[in-house]
Amino acid sequence: MAILVTGGAGFIGSHTVVELQNAGYDVVILDNLCNASEKVLGRIEAITGKSAPFYKADIRDRSALEEIFAKEKIDSCIHFAGLKAVGESVQKPLEYYDNNIAGTLILLDVMRKHGCKNIIFSSSATVYGDPAFVPITEECPKGVCTNPYGWTKSMLEQIMSDMQHADPEWNVVLLRYFNPIGAHKSGTMGENPDGIPNNLMPYITQVAVGKRKELGVFGNDYDTPDGTGVRDYIHVVDLAEGHVKALKKIEEKAGLCIYNLGTGRGYSVLEVIHNFEEASGVKIPYSIKPRRAGDIATCYADASKAKAELGWEARYGIKEMCEDSWRWQKNNPDGYV
Ligand code: NAD
Ligand code: UFG
Repeated sequence: MAILVTGGAGFIGSHTVVELQNAGYDVVILDNLCNASEKVLGRIEAITGKSAPFYKADIRDRSALEEIFAKEKIDSCIHFAGLKAVGESVQKPLEYYDNNIAGTLILLDVMRKHGCKNIIFSSSATVYGDPAFVPITEECPKGVCTNPYGWTKSMLEQIMSDMQHADPEWNVVLLRYFNPIGAHKSGTMGENPDGIPNNLMPYITQVAVGKRKELGVFGNDYDTPDGTGVRDYIHVVDLAEGHVKALKKIEEKAGLCIYNLGTGRGYSVLEVIHNFEEASGVKIPYSIKPRRAGDIATCYADASKAKAELGWEARYGIKEMCEDSWRWQKNNPDGYV
């Protein structure tokens, strides 16, 4: 039996495929490559020594999904496929709702039809909105999202919870990621944003490699120790391992489970810059800019539920996250070319 990884050519998906293969799972990868390069498949194979069937397909393409489920013996699905650019989602809400929500509805329907009722879903700390308290536990109420991307995660969580409630044969694990950064130790796989990076770490690494002049720090007047935003950065390999643990939970008949995947420790933007400078030996010029619309001051996880129930906790700290992000960017200044 195999695990279907939708969005498996993307940043988190590709690292998860490596950890799944290392743990002995057979993997089938589906990706429409709208935000990924097929080259990553060779990189995965070079690391694990294993190849995985790859389908260039869209989750909204029912007949393509039908074909995959008819051909492959799929036991569970890890569902990463989705659009994720917060700003773009404000400009293109219908495209985001169509891709993320309509796409997932089709995927779930085809899974059900083929008797595959195990799913791990990539959710996000964004569902907490401006969190009612920190550190954020899974009991923290879901909040008001500030953009359509966030709403797709919040709504899909609801849809999958309702589905599991109606049919308890489903096992649904909702994983709420905090801020994934870092890259594979080999320096051959990492984050590969198209155009100007939206997120902090890829922006920093592009400044470090000389592709951008300086980093803009979005606000230094937040109610945080140094005034800049505080986030819970998590190494992508730790995150990937969290999915392997979640799969074990599914094998024990999870029902519906929700876990935060974070380190439990927050770092400010300035702390990330300083840690990166130390890890890379490269100075990062920056200037303070106005706050970015929709940003919150502080967001970090209480990750104790995942530790207690999945036996998972993050192993890597900010130093490794910075070192590994830098190794990837330095070795691959133009991504997967
Ligand atoms: P990514 O863009 O690198 O990966 C997503 C992959 O899905 C891409 O390879 C893309 O080509 C593919 N895809 C998109 N729409 C598709 C469709 N309709 N059919 C088939 N493939 C499609 O992003 P990522 O950072 O690896 O994120 C993976 C998942 O985790 C996403 O669902 C994202 O929303 C979620 N997530 C990411 C973060 C983050 O900060 N990176 C945080 C929380 C949650
Ligand atoms: N920041 C800057 N300059 C930049 C980019 C970011 O100062 O060029 C700051 C932000 O203001 C914030 C922090 O760096 O304080 C982190 O910003 P990111 O854009 O890297 O991450 P966010 O916390 O805004 O959002 C990310 C993902 C969302 C996800 C959320 C929670 O982009 O998809 O984490 O998981 F929902």
